Amino acid sequence: MSALLEKVRGVVGAGNVLADGDLSAWEVDWRKRFRGRALAVVRPGSTAEVAAVVRLCAGHGTSIVAQGGNTGLVGGSGPDASGTQIVLSLARLDRVRGVDAANMTMTVEAGCVLQRAQQAAAEAGLLLALSLGSEGTCTIGGNLGTNAGGTQVLRYGNAREQCLGLEVVTASGDIWHGLSGLRKDNTGYDLRDLMIGSEGTLGIITAATMKLQPRPAALLTALATLPTLDAAVALLSLAHAMLGPGLTGFEVMNAFSLDLVRKRFPALRQPLPPAPWTVLVEQSDAEGEAHGAAALEALLGAALERGLIEDTAIAASIEQANAMWHLRESITLAQAAEGPNIKHDISLPVSAIREFVVTTDAALQRALPGIRLVNFGHLGDGNLHYNVQCPEGSDAGEFLRHENEVNAIVYAAVSARQGSISAEHGIGSLKLEAMTKHKSPVALAMMRAIKAALDPSGVLNPGRVLPPPARQ
Ligand code: FAD
Ligand code: MLT
Ligand code: ZN
Repeated sequence: MSALLEKVRGVVGAGNVLADGDLSAWEVDWRKRFRGRALAVVRPGSTAEVAAVVRLCAGHGTSIVAQGGNTGLVGGSGPDASGTQIVLSLARLDRVRGVDAANMTMTVEAGCVLQRAQQAAAEAGLLLALSLGSEGTCTIGGNLGTNAGGTQVLRYGNAREQCLGLEVVTASGDIWHGLSGLRKDNTGYDLRDLMIGSEGTLGIITAATMKLQPRPAALLTALATLPTLDAAVALLSLAHAMLGPGLTGFEVMNAFSLDLVRKRFPALRQPLPPAPWTVLVEQSDAEGEAHGAAALEALLGAALERGLIEDTAIAASIEQANAMWHLRESITLAQAAEGPNIKHDISLPVSAIREFVVTTDAALQRALPGIRLVNFGHLGDGNLHYNVQCPEGSDAGEFLRHENEVNAIVYAAVSARQGSISAEHGIGSLKLEAMTKHKSPVALAMMRAIKAALDPSGVLNPGRVLPPPARQ
């Protein structure tokens, strides 16, 4: 092993191979549910160095876990417990290689933090329309590795839909120069789409060409409280009808989500009183503030008239809009502060959501009386973070022993309604069991054939995404 590290030091420089001391920033996941041990953390500074490191590791039979910001929520970005894997941090590949304003694209290296890429697009007068609560830390490589979603998917699509081309280091250490700003290219199998969402198991993304959008002239944001989830679904339909493509965000939060934010972050002002459901609506207006405000007010007025909403607050400034988003994005942090929870990231047809929630809430309460549901998410995409927290006053860590039981109830209900067990976070290590149970054997067999073809020695993030055949 030390012979491998000596060679790797020769490629990336001794200072970029971390093998001693506290490596927990790379070895422990964001939720602190997965703790591994790395042989070393390697920080290459160029695509050529990534390729050379992969060649060396492949030659020594040492497996590699690609890592960006380590904000992943499914235990896919850290090493296993063996102490034999290399964590390949892309953090030093962080350049914006260029913005092509006429083509409305930008080419960014994998380790570039999403927020920096957004800023570079803004400086060119354009919009990189990928927006996540973790955007100050997560990277373009991780976003594409997970096919991240976020809060603007209903208008602009997830990371895959916003990517036109990739540069990738393959499992054998070759470089696929697939960077392209083309919107049309039907030359054979779509390797780009195969790499996106593969969570570091098929190749290591070193750079990407992303689509950019016109910047809206104005962004309008509002909160509204609602008596039922049915009303939220009806408000979503009304928003689509009245705002059309201007509707760029539609997030839902149940009462307990915002209670947790109130409890953990009492300094955050909540402009509306507690209610069974609160929705955050964002409208992007091409014509400007006055036009946008009139459209949003018309929507909320129509919703009030129909009895869909009870109370509403429209942000009067960018600061107020940011504060509304901050409330929404604080749910994940408030939950983490409350202690470990059983996290779900499910999607369903929007039309099935209310019935799913009513039925599954009841089934969970029957099985585990007193559990608390932190139910929030991207209702506009049919994507809920349907998380289960222990009953008040009980031990959150100890409650995790119910994880399999809870997952069985939730995922059976999702599958029965043709939903997905992972809408945007991926599979990693966390959802291997659920993949076995809820992905068809034919789909799993095709995925294994792809993995075997592109990574025959299994050096890239082994054991993630695909459950071993024996577990089927
Ligand atoms: P990492 O966590 O480092 O890695 C994630 C996966 O991608 C791993 O399997 C890793 O091996 C692989 N990977 C990383 N870099 C590369 C690469 N260069 N090439 C190939 N594979 C690679 N996710 C959403 O989808 N929507 C949200 O709204 C959202 N909000 C979040 C809010 C918070 C507060 C937090 C903590 C997380 C949130 N996430 C969200 C999850 C997470 O931020 C995303 O999955 C993000 O895309 C991960 O990026 P990262 O750079 O941190 O990747
Ligand atoms: C979000 O939408 O806030 C994220 O996906 C993070 C989470 O699920 O906690
Ligand atoms: Zn989310």
